[in-house]
Amino acid sequence: MIRLKNQAEIDRIRESCRMLSGCFAELVPLVKPGVTTGQLDEAARSYIVSHGGKPAFLGYDGYPASLCVSPNEVVIHGIPGDRRLVDGDIVGLDCGIDLGGYYSDAAITLPVGKLSAEMDKLLRVTRECLERAIAAVKPGGRIHDISRAVYGHALANGYGVVRQYCGHGVGLAPHEDPQIPNYVSPGPNPRIAPGMVFALEPMINLGKGDVRLLDDGWTVVTIDRKASAHYEHTLAVLPDGSVEVLTSWTWPY
Ligand code: MF3
Ligand code: CO
Repeated sequence: MIRLKNQAEIDRIRESCRMLSGCFAELVPLVKPGVTTGQLDEAARSYIVSHGGKPAFLGYDGYPASLCVSPNEVVIHGIPGDRRLVDGDIVGLDCGIDLGGYYSDAAITLPVGKLSAEMDKLLRVTRECLERAIAAVKPGGRIHDISRAVYGHALANGYGVVRQYCGHGVGLAPHEDPQIPNYVSPGPNPRIAPGMVFALEPMINLGKGDVRLLDDGWTVVTIDRKASAHYEHTLAVLPDGSVEVLTSWTWPY
């Protein structure tokens, strides 16, 4: 069941998203060669709690951190720890905040130092996939319009699209209906309507789209161990039918 949000609820979700955007603004400059993934998690946690929010991922299904930190071949849900980022890495940061029961969710993949042309293009095209996904959100349209926009752009660039994980509804819980696949699927294809709040999150691989789960039960890696990128925004279809992107992060260049 898709929960439609009224204006007052969207206003509260927007506050949660503003706090999350502030958290990302704090994290982006910390991403440099030598930083550990655990230090990034600690920075996210301390930002969120000092601003009166709760890290939405911490303890969710037993997830042990406030931030997912996913370098290179890690697609999503990397558990932060002692790994040190090095020049030429890419790293995905994914975070969510529970602000009095209103949930935000966003992710960015950042360069660490200087990237190869191949990595640089993967990040650019994956950002474009998210932009195209957002542009496909139209009241009266369908969820698969979003899926098609992402899939077409990734495929045109020769990349693999992750199928096991999807975008989703968000706002009154960390994950709500509908599922929003990044590929054209035979599954449910609901109509987009005012009051819907979505987290759109293309996960795009340099190689094959196939992934596997590591033994820690969380870390999702590409099957060919080639790099993967992930960007995510929370957005709302307002009661008047306009679309508002509620989270923001700033690209460092
Ligand atoms: N943004 C991710 C998602 O929507 C965050 C989930 S991590 C978890 O799937 F720890 F909360 F599960
Ligand atoms: Co999400």
